[in-house]
Amino acid sequence: MSRIEAYELVHLVDSEGRRYQILLSPGSDFSFTRGKIAHDDVIGLEEGGTVTSSLGERLIVLRPTMSEYIAKMKKGSQIVYPKDIAAIIMLADIFPGARVLEAGTGSGALTIALLRAVGGSGMVVSYERRAEFQSIAERNIERFFHDVKSAGRYGRLILKRGDVYEGIEERELDRVILDLPEPWRALRSVELALRPGGILLCYNPTVLQIYKLSKRLELRFGHSFRTDGIYEVGIREWEIRGRSMRPQHRAIVHTGFIFVARKIYRGDG
Ligand SMILES: C[S@@+](CC[C@H](N)C(=O)[O-])C[C@H]1O[C@@H](n2cnc3c(N)ncnc32)[C@H](O)[C@@H]1O
Repeated sequence: MSRIEAYELVHLVDSEGRRYQILLSPGSDFSFTRGKIAHDDVIGLEEGGTVTSSLGERLIVLRPTMSEYIAKMKKGSQIVYPKDIAAIIMLADIFPGARVLEAGTGSGALTIALLRAVGGSGMVVSYERRAEFQSIAERNIERFFHDVKSAGRYGRLILKRGDVYEGIEERELDRVILDLPEPWRALRSVELALRPGGILLCYNPTVLQIYKLSKRLELRFGHSFRTDGIYEVGIREWEIRGRSMRPQHRAIVHTGFIFVARKIYRGDG
């Protein structure tokens, strides 16, 4: 898959690094301050090729990476930042073939990454209680995976309207990822749904949430779970302009804490 096809989502990158996201539709035009580009001039190009606008601006044509796509996609809820998504995939040890449950779906940013990580033999069940967020997420997910010819390359996705505080239907899950305000309210359901050895990962912005979660886990579910760790992820981008190389003045400093616990098997006396 290297030539750009009709109905793909692409980024056009100008000489100053600005990105324009377009969904290629035969017969359509894209207009911006530096001219007009016919979608038909982009369709059929090699990825990484260039296209020239009616006013002579050359733009590079690229398929967006997952993190570029997530940054530009429509948001209903606050999403998990790509830096945290990367850590979540590693800390929750998401593997090809895994059976993963996530809640809430929100805008679907984490769902996209989970789906790609579980691969063709895996499954992602995602619970969301608000219909409007679920439809935004569904659209975001569909758009990202549009170019996948064989659906089997990615995992099976089940988007569920439901409240995880009221229960989880699935059993023998390998991983449960909670990105919602009161994860401690789901602990009993997670205890039933997760297989022994499975991983529970919660993502929350405030220390009070993490404190309450860890205390509840210790006091009421200590027989079923063992806390593995609490993490924060920092990333600092540098600016490179001519001879000036230095960290950028602005950075996203705090986003969320990542809490990881392991389900324990209770059957061995
Ligand atoms: C911060 S957003 C999740 C963002 C998502 N992880 C992403 O990356 O796009 C939290 C979501 O959880 C949903 N939510 C809150 N409580 C819930 C519950 N008990 N069951 C299911 N979804 C819930 C909210 O409606 C909201 O969409």
